[in-house]
Amino acid sequence: MSDFVTIAFTPLEEARSAARRPAAAGGTETLVVFVGADLRPAAAVAEILGAASASLAAGAAAAAFKGKAKTALDLLAPPGLGFGRLLVVGTEAKPGAAPDGTEMVSLGGFVMGKLRDGAKATVVLDLPGGTTPQAAADFAQGLQLRAYRFDRYKTKKKDDEEKREPAAVTLAVADVAAVRERAAASAGVADGVELARTLVNEPPNVLYPVEFARRAAELSRLGVEVEILDIPALERLKMGALLGVGQGSAHESRVVVMRWNGGGGGRPPVAFVGKGVTFDTGGISIKGAAGMEDMKGDMAGAACVVGLMHALAARKAKVDAVGVIGLVENMPDGKAQRPGDIVTSMSGQTIEIINTDAEGRLVLADALWYVQERFKPRFMIDLATLTGAILVALASEHAGLFSNDDELAERLGAAGRATGEKVWRLPLTPNYDKLIDSKFADMKNTGGRHAGSITAAQFLQRFTNDTPWVHLDIAGTGMGAPSDDVNQSWGSGWGVRLLDRLVADHYEG
Ligand code: BES
Ligand code: MN
Ligand code: ZN
Repeated sequence: MSDFVTIAFTPLEEARSAARRPAAAGGTETLVVFVGADLRPAAAVAEILGAASASLAAGAAAAAFKGKAKTALDLLAPPGLGFGRLLVVGTEAKPGAAPDGTEMVSLGGFVMGKLRDGAKATVVLDLPGGTTPQAAADFAQGLQLRAYRFDRYKTKKKDDEEKREPAAVTLAVADVAAVRERAAASAGVADGVELARTLVNEPPNVLYPVEFARRAAELSRLGVEVEILDIPALERLKMGALLGVGQGSAHESRVVVMRWNGGGGGRPPVAFVGKGVTFDTGGISIKGAAGMEDMKGDMAGAACVVGLMHALAARKAKVDAVGVIGLVENMPDGKAQRPGDIVTSMSGQTIEIINTDAEGRLVLADALWYVQERFKPRFMIDLATLTGAILVALASEHAGLFSNDDELAERLGAAGRATGEKVWRLPLTPNYDKLIDSKFADMKNTGGRHAGSITAAQFLQRFTNDTPWVHLDIAGTGMGAPSDDVNQSWGSGWGVRLLDRLVADHYEG
């Protein structure tokens, strides 16, 4: 349920009769239609437009509108159309070649970008290439994702600013029942993305580990079992690596275990693990001041896991899934961990702290070990804003992928292409692993200057116990990525759609 747009579905015939009603003078409702490369709409749309088709042709000629994808022709609706505004959207779709899933999601985002707060619009979802029920649901998901906004801390509005009412969009489709069913699932996933975005956007004074855990616990409303491990529980588990990171903070650390039991318990669960550093100052190895405020987003991995659990539960996915997040705040303090400290992880392996700013891997070391030991999952996938180096390598185009399992890596690659949340695999090899051997302990928490994202992944691999595993370094994609058709938010919610897709394609039923 989005706060920013309400989406309803109606049969194509309804749109046709609405178009036949004369618009009240100054009518403000928008009719949205799509045209293909030749500027021709689908047959149903041509029929709905009726005599207005001529004004469309005239308007297109005057505005040199060619119907290219991601362009739109914004017209005052011709008299007699029953709408105030006619928005003609290019798709370049050719008969028989429907846009794919990502294109439909983007198209929904593009259209939402053309509507204002409080707008009322009817979208005739009949594309020249044909529109399946799934394509319509994808479009609706794009509308919702684009409409998201994080403005809860803005108390002042400019005088001329409209009241922030949600847009009301009606999608006219061929088969309402079939679309509704699919749209319910795609909206559940979009809700998970919105949740993840909000967690990333929240300021670090509001969202510290205990509060993050409380928000994750709200998933119980959807039937997710949530367990919160407090400090004594983490001490009993001997999570010395995770606890060391949080020991300089006034806020207590937490680990949250979320379980969605939609699969009937016949097989081991799939597992997702998230880095949840609610603020990363670097600790004693303190970061520079410039841009440090962005380190409120250092919990984007954990946010994604929570958003994913929401998505799976909302659409009642037929899978048993576990989500585990390690929540800490990394602060400099008299009690903070020092460079030179040696901590003992839950696995029993010892770690020499070289740089307290390489804290994410310490949190994940214990979370990964815990997950494989307790749940013996089919696989575990961790997400972490782990290294600045991944931005150097891949910018925000791809998340870095590291894996000990080719099949899982390939499945994620395919899910990335199918959702637009793309991943790129980087190597893990024994020669890189040597770079984190320590003089004093079993390993140290940083390698040298080079291959920083890889040595971080090698470190994590030492805590997987050979469980099939993928590490996704989302420092570039989880926050601050450039805006696009489906995301205008600083916290992107990256990974929710990717992992939901992976589960849907391979691990349900
Ligand atoms: N949270 C940072 C990584 C990061 C950087 C995320 C930029 C998002 C944007 C992480 O904890 C960190 O500080 N990594 C260090 C590791 C280094 C000390 C080995 C880094 O990347 O510089
Ligand atoms: Mn750090
Ligand atoms: Zn960090």
